[in-house]
Amino acid sequence: MVRRNFIKKSLIGGLGATALVGCDNSNDKATYPRIISTWEHGLAANQEAWKKLTSGSNGISSIESGVKISEADPSVRSVGYGGLPDREGIVTLDACIMDKYSNCGSVSYLQNIKHPISVARLVMEDTPHVMLSGKGALDFALSKGFKQESLLTDQSKKDWLNWKKKSNYSPVINIENHDTISMLLIDQNKDLFGACTTSGAAWKMHGRVGDSPIIGAGLFLDNEVGAAAATGLGEAVIRTSGSAMVVELMRQGYSPLHACKTIVDRISKIHKSGPDWEYLQVGFIAINKKGEYAGYSLKKGFNYAVCDKQNKNLLMDADYFI
Ligand code: GLY
Repeated sequence: MVRRNFIKKSLIGGLGATALVGCDNSNDKATYPRIISTWEHGLAANQEAWKKLTSGSNGISSIESGVKISEADPSVRSVGYGGLPDREGIVTLDACIMDKYSNCGSVSYLQNIKHPISVARLVMEDTPHVMLSGKGALDFALSKGFKQESLLTDQSKKDWLNWKKKSNYSPVINIENHDTISMLLIDQNKDLFGACTTSGAAWKMHGRVGDSPIIGAGLFLDNEVGAAAATGLGEAVIRTSGSAMVVELMRQGYSPLHACKTIVDRISKIHKSGPDWEYLQVGFIAINKKGEYAGYSLKKGFNYAVCDKQNKNLLMDADYFI
């Protein structure tokens, strides 16, 4: 059953104001420019991206600036600075970015660099490659003038030490611990851009890479069709090439909602008799070439921020499967 609970908060054009939106088909209304981002931290990220876009920045710079807000915010515990570490207490970062020409850049298993999305952008623009990983990604970042800094805050260290006491060193599959920021943007020319950045699943095994730096899994776009991005347990998203599949379904004429729901259904079939089912969460956001959008998740609790001229900047509860 598809459930709808549209609501919430307006940031742009009235900080802190609350706007209630009825349970109508507002998510099917085509408009552009429009920016959608995963989770509540997407509100501040959208606000920054919108500000850049409407002051003349191009789509790629706007989307980079937007997700950098979450990367720099220590209260966002699943992205960049302040992100929860792996089970060794080390923060490792994954990020990717994609533009209207299907150019893309990505970094995985990057450490001690506050803005992996900016490194990913430079991989796209200044190298013949799509992805750099680990030490190679770090060396590249340093060669471009990025500074090394510790990303493990006192709070994250404390949480990790607490986790270690009771965890038996077991990597965790947890509905709460992988809240990537993924952002999709359609600009005034109806061109699409996407970005995604995360510190990945908390308490993961050292060296683990999730879906977020993998083009086609954590993020995909085709400027003729639409864009999609994921949040939630990366392993489940990778198994289905989730974001690429959502875009391919939109190419076949599916609405963004129907496309997201179809892939979440597929994920549920694969995982429902597995050991991770109880704690599994996966969500997608999608936008098509007309600017119609949707968010949909496996389980209740996923929300996403939508920013455009009509709605300002709203947090919406996604439809869900269970
Ligand atoms: N979706 C983020 C991760 O699993 O790493």
